[in-house]
Amino acid sequence: MKYSVPRGAKDILPDESALWQSLEEKFRKIFALFNYKEIRTPIFEMTELFTRSIGESTDIVKKEMYTFLDRKGRSLTLRPEGTAPVVRAGLENNLISPDQIAKLYYFGPMFRYERPQAGRQRQFHQAGAEVFGSPDPLLDVESIILNLRLFEAIGLKNLEVDINSVGDRKCQPNYRAAIQRYFAEVISQMCEDCQERYRLNPLRILDCKEEKCQPFIEKAPASVETLCDECSRHFEKVIEYLKLRNIDFRINNRLVRGLDYYTKTTFEIVSNLLGAQKAISGGGRYDALVEAFGGKPTPAVGFAIGIERVIEILKTHNPQPTTQSGILFFIATIGEEAKRMGFDLVMKAREKGIAAEMDYLGKSLKAQMKLADRMLATYVYIIGEEELKKGAGILKDMRSSSQEETKFVDLFENLKG
Ligand code: HAM
Repeated sequence: MKYSVPRGAKDILPDESALWQSLEEKFRKIFALFNYKEIRTPIFEMTELFTRSIGESTDIVKKEMYTFLDRKGRSLTLRPEGTAPVVRAGLENNLISPDQIAKLYYFGPMFRYERPQAGRQRQFHQAGAEVFGSPDPLLDVESIILNLRLFEAIGLKNLEVDINSVGDRKCQPNYRAAIQRYFAEVISQMCEDCQERYRLNPLRILDCKEEKCQPFIEKAPASVETLCDECSRHFEKVIEYLKLRNIDFRINNRLVRGLDYYTKTTFEIVSNLLGAQKAISGGGRYDALVEAFGGKPTPAVGFAIGIERVIEILKTHNPQPTTQSGILFFIATIGEEAKRMGFDLVMKAREKGIAAEMDYLGKSLKAQMKLADRMLATYVYIIGEEELKKGAGILKDMRSSSQEETKFVDLFENLKG
């Protein structure tokens, strides 16, 4: 029986993991510059956490969640996104309150049962950031800037920022009504999913990807036309601050995003280097979510980056030399006793912080030298019967091929990185 990785999931192999590590390291530095602290939440949560926040009528909740009953019959769901868990954890641990700013970031796998294709997986990874505590449009802009700085840090260029405002709980009903009025005329010509969306949550019609629905969706009214004064002012401020910071952006009236919790600003960053799945990150404000989860009303804004999509661009368009960190030190031995001495020296090297390796397969000396070469060892230390008697092995510098006899006791002084 041969097993293969489940459909829609991928192994990240050692060749690629160096790239993931370097990306995470760079991201952490930028998060720290913006004063964000890391939070790690569980991979699964109570199902209701997601149905209530993302919305019953969204594609994610209706079709894409990995939901299961545990042994006590509780309904749990593998997290499809990170925002709801962060709000839950923030409230449960008193990190979130209306009168203080809390900035949290996270990395981790997310799960959505979607049709796998390039840039779309069933297990994928996000890096996300959430800031709680202020309605100030400056924070919307700071979020967008943080998002751009993260991309800049890993060398991504030519990105486009799309923004929109979907209004708040006061003016969203106006937009919903406008959308309903507009689609009433054409809904019979649209797909079945849209007809159901029309009944349950007409705003979600704008997420439809069906070819035949696009002409109708393109002419739908824009949410910015129905904003209340407060949301309008907020959106104007966001635009003003973006311009002040010289950030290019595009107002995209279709950008309602596939999750129900958004209020006011929504944004997406798009790369034209990708195919159909172009959005490398998305986010926005969600001023009503903390309260919906039982907290005091606390405004919030955040975003999440799709790491696989970013890695894809880096691999194909910014090929970086894979700086494989070769091991420094290989100990080649001949004979049982030498092997024991070799093992002792390998352990000593590691205690001193020198990466070291030896052969565990009883290979010939020639084969061990080849192995050391493949591992990009800087030095090989050879110990045979003769060397054991002398208390000194042969230290070979693989860069210059020069070698000299070196006593066991002097070994570590003679290694130069
Ligand atoms: P989202 O737009 O659903 O937002 O996901 C954010 C990003 O995750 C997308 O732009 C995309 O790059 C990546 N992504 C989503 N689904 C997949 C998939 N199936 N395969 C590969 N990559 C994918 C959220 O998840 C919100 N929680 C963002 C947020 C944070 N809003 C406020 N705070």
